[in-house]
Amino acid sequence: MLREVLRIGSRRWYSYKSVRRPGQPAVSSNVELEQNQKPKQTSDTHAKSNGNLTKQLAAKIQATGPITVAEYMREVLTNPHGGYYMNRDVFGRAGDFITSPEISQIFGELVGVWLMNEWQKLGSPSPFQLIELGPGRGTLARDVLKVISKFKSGAQFSMHMVEISPYLSQAQAQRFCYKYEILPEEEQLQHYQTGTTATGTQVFWHRRLEDVPVGFSLVLAHEFFDALPVHKLQLINGKWQEVLIDVDINSTTADFRYVMSKAQTPVSNLFKPLPQEQRSSLEYSLEAERHVGLLAERLEQHGGIALIMDYGHFGDKTDTFRGFKQHALHEPLLAPGTADLTADVDFRHLKHVAETRAHIHCCGPVQQGDFMRSMQGEVRLEQLLMHALPENQSIIRSGYEMLTDAKQMGSRFKFLAMFPGVLAAHLNKYPVAGFG
Ligand SMILES: C[S@@+](CC[C@H](N)C(=O)[O-])C[C@H]1O[C@@H](n2cnc3c(N)ncnc32)[C@H](O)[C@@H]1O
Repeated sequence: MLREVLRIGSRRWYSYKSVRRPGQPAVSSNVELEQNQKPKQTSDTHAKSNGNLTKQLAAKIQATGPITVAEYMREVLTNPHGGYYMNRDVFGRAGDFITSPEISQIFGELVGVWLMNEWQKLGSPSPFQLIELGPGRGTLARDVLKVISKFKSGAQFSMHMVEISPYLSQAQAQRFCYKYEILPEEEQLQHYQTGTTATGTQVFWHRRLEDVPVGFSLVLAHEFFDALPVHKLQLINGKWQEVLIDVDINSTTADFRYVMSKAQTPVSNLFKPLPQEQRSSLEYSLEAERHVGLLAERLEQHGGIALIMDYGHFGDKTDTFRGFKQHALHEPLLAPGTADLTADVDFRHLKHVAETRAHIHCCGPVQQGDFMRSMQGEVRLEQLLMHALPENQSIIRSGYEMLTDAKQMGSRFKFLAMFPGVLAAHLNKYPVAGFG
């Protein structure tokens, strides 16, 4: 208990990702790399790989022309050499941002209770798989695992982490595994790392959702979809056109800038706005569409539940692509690889894809604060406070407030649940907790 309290205590000074942007228009003129904005590198290795990433992106653009914002975002976040997530811990005080599971254990506990409650309502199917997309430091998985081990009453389950970062996959294993092993390259088939928790549960790490075995699954995605690449589109003279990224090379640096595509791009051609689309400028994530489509097909064919938790909107925001560095906003085209890149999740799009790609019953999105309150978060808070040292009580309380207060994370973060469509009548009779 003390460890948990101190753990929360050491986190409360961190900031989460805000929505305010650094005041950059959607299509900008040249972006100057000013002296006082130059990135502070954390180590020589990072400086070198990030410098290489800038060169690599600049060279690609010079050779083949401007690239999409999605390609830029993908390279900056997940390039095997200089990608932001690939080789270091980016969370917490020494990192760039803090996420809900890292702020308070109450978050993961309530998510775990919600999952187990819905699983029991479906008759406690066994075996099941716990899948997490983009588990970060593994804190949510660890807190959910604690709840599952109390509830599961003999059911068999395995854990499947979908994680692209070799560094973070080891951090996750160290958080909730008793032992783990990175598989030699030649043995890597559907998974690249395996582990075993202290209670004997098998854990597998996969690079892609497609590589996770099929079967009844409980799926979690917290701040995963906001890290997926977005295309930026604008409606000009009745046609959707794509915003691209170009580069100006001078002797010392590569200055990236936004430009409008001269002709239709594959994505601007393919893009079909949802009915009643009002916006003339928007962000469109093919990768988010692909992941939700896959989840929908899996849930329909093999059963399960998915819970998507992220900051986002319901099809009304236009320009949310931004960088985040050392707990402050960062111009996304500056010093690629040194800052997180993110875009708000379009929940209307996700819900539409889930419901049209397969027979899926969606609940929400609801606001995080409402979800946590209706899952009796206050009761858990009072329990923790009862056992906490007096000097830690205000820290525990402020962590909970940060997660639930509408002015902080309570309204910006949203929860969307997906169930197989055949359960719709059952779920109307026994309503889904937290989504009332
Ligand atoms: C913003 S972090 C969220 C971490 C964690 N869920 C949390 O809330 O603390 C995004 C996570 O997704 C992973 N990730 C990003 N893009 C990915 C991709 N295309 N495939 C798999 N994992 C990815 C990152 O490495 C990281 O673990």
